[in-house]
Formats: sequence, C-alpha cells, structure tokens
Amino acid sequence: MRQARIVVVGSANIDLVTRVPRSPKPGESIIGRSFATVTGGKGANQALAAARLGAQVSFVGCVGNDAFGELQRATLSADGVDCSHLKTHPSEPTGTAVILVADEGQNSIVVTPSANYGLRPADIAQLEPLFAQADAIVLQLEIPLDTVEAALTLARRCGVFSILDAGPAQKIDASLVALADLVSPNETEAEAMTGIAVNTPDDALAAARQLLAMGTGHVVMKLGAQGALYLGETNVFAPAFKIQAVDTTAAGDAFTAALAVVWNRMPLPEALRFANATGALAATKEGAQPSMPTRAAVEAFLQEHA
Ligand code: RIB
Repeated sequence: MRQARIVVVGSANIDLVTRVPRSPKPGESIIGRSFATVTGGKGANQALAAARLGAQVSFVGCVGNDAFGELQRATLSADGVDCSHLKTHPSEPTGTAVILVADEGQNSIVVTPSANYGLRPADIAQLEPLFAQADAIVLQLEIPLDTVEAALTLARRCGVFSILDAGPAQKIDASLVALADLVSPNETEAEAMTGIAVNTPDDALAAARQLLAMGTGHVVMKLGAQGALYLGETNVFAPAFKIQAVDTTAAGDAFTAALAVVWNRMPLPEALRFANATGALAATKEGAQPSMPTRAAVEAFLQEHA
C-alpha cells in the first residue's frame, strides 16, 4: 500500500518543561526537579508523529524569526516532514508552552501562541494543489479559528477527509464542527464544546452524540486511561493499554496522528487500537516530540499486547 499523504495545519511551539513533585497551589512557590527545552506544539507534534508512523507529511504553520523557530524547522525536517509551507513571522517570536509535569505524569500547560497567530486564511487559499493530493488534512485549535475554518472549507472543496483535534479546550461554533469530517476531543475538550461534563461512559456517549448532531460525520473521544470511543457509522470502544505513564504531554497528539495515518486503511477497531498504542507509547517517554514512537515501535508494542 502506498504511503498515506497527510497535511497538518497547526501550531509549532517550543515547550519549556519543568518537572515538579506536584502542581503548585495558587500563590505557592515550589522547587522543580529538572528543566528542559523541547520542540512541541499540537500541530508540529502531530506532523512529526505521522512522519514517524510512515506517512508522507507536509506541515503548514508559522514560527518566529528566531532560534526556537530554527530548532522547530530543523527537528521536523530531520524526521522527513516537508516544511516548505512553514512560514517565518517577521516580528512575532515562536510560540511557547510553559509546561509543569508532576511526578504522577499529569501536566499543566500555558501556551503563548505568538507567531502561530500569523497563520492566516490567505495562507490557506494558496494550498489547493497540496490539499488536493492528500489523504487527510489534520487540524487543531491552537491557530486562529478563521484559519481553521478556511482549511476545513478548502479540504471539503478538494474532497479530502478532514480531522479536527479539538485541543486546546474551547467552545467553538457548531458550524466549525460541521465542517470537519471527524472530530476528536478528550473529556475536557468535549465538555467545552458540548457543555456535557464527561465523567462516565454514558457522558462520553452523550457528548459524542451531541457532536454528531452538530454536523460532523465521525467522533473519536480520547478517554485517556479508559481508551477511545468511536461514534458515527457504528459504535466502537477500544480499551486503553495499561502502561506506566511518565509524561502524558502530547499523548493525545500521538493518538490523533496515528488515527490520521491509518484511517480507512485498517478496520475501525484495529485503527483505534493502533492509535491507543501510539498514544500509550508517547506517554511512556518524556517530552512532546521526543516521545513520538516509530511505526516499528508501535507494531512491536501491539504484538507484545496481542
Ligand atoms: O499537546 C501538547 C502540546 O500542547 C505541547 O507540545 C504544547 O506545545 C501545547 O501546544
């Protein structure tokens, strides 16, 4: 089978990561365990993950004219991601994410988009030839929403399948949901979009149904340590793999990238299992992009857990 062709339109950040014993309370100072500067950003993470899983990937984004921007470009290119549509902003710095990772592996993130907001609908208008040859267009919500809308509209015009990863959590218009062929939120993101707090399997089903009612064709709920739930043409639940999480940063990005790479190339239950395995492996390593597994690693993991 030929390589999947994926276009990711989204953010590129540099993550400033401090490991902490626990999250500080408001007004409290605590001592961190370690600090690292790593490449991140939901869009760039998904582009790099899809490339490591064997896809031919183009990344569309915007970084600053600075060392962080150069680091992001060099890191994506080293993994074979086509960066010819990665813009350089003339004045804004590269986006950053300040991340605290607590000992139990959970994280808190503050993103400053900066150059990411320089990716405008006019940039998308020129991408018709790129979109037209793709198998899937992948988007998130870390760039301006009018740019997301322009990309979803162009994908629809080109007849290309679009996947909207609904992170970071925010309320968006139902019209945006309707433009995406597949929407994939985690629990918090699903609540922001639907108003339904997702604490139980029934809540997850209710939120997924509401997203379908908003007009998307497929919903894949990322339920963390529970697994993944598909609702659309059918209803499939794929339980999560039991792993020792070291850092969950970008595990959801790994999941979305995997879903895009194998969509329509595997039966749905296998595709969800593949995406769960990719997300699980990403959570066993520190950092966003450094934690993305190769296809060989995911296949070996799936064999071990057959
Ligand atoms: O999904 C994880 C990502 O969210 C991090 O890499 C950070 O940059 C933020 O965009």
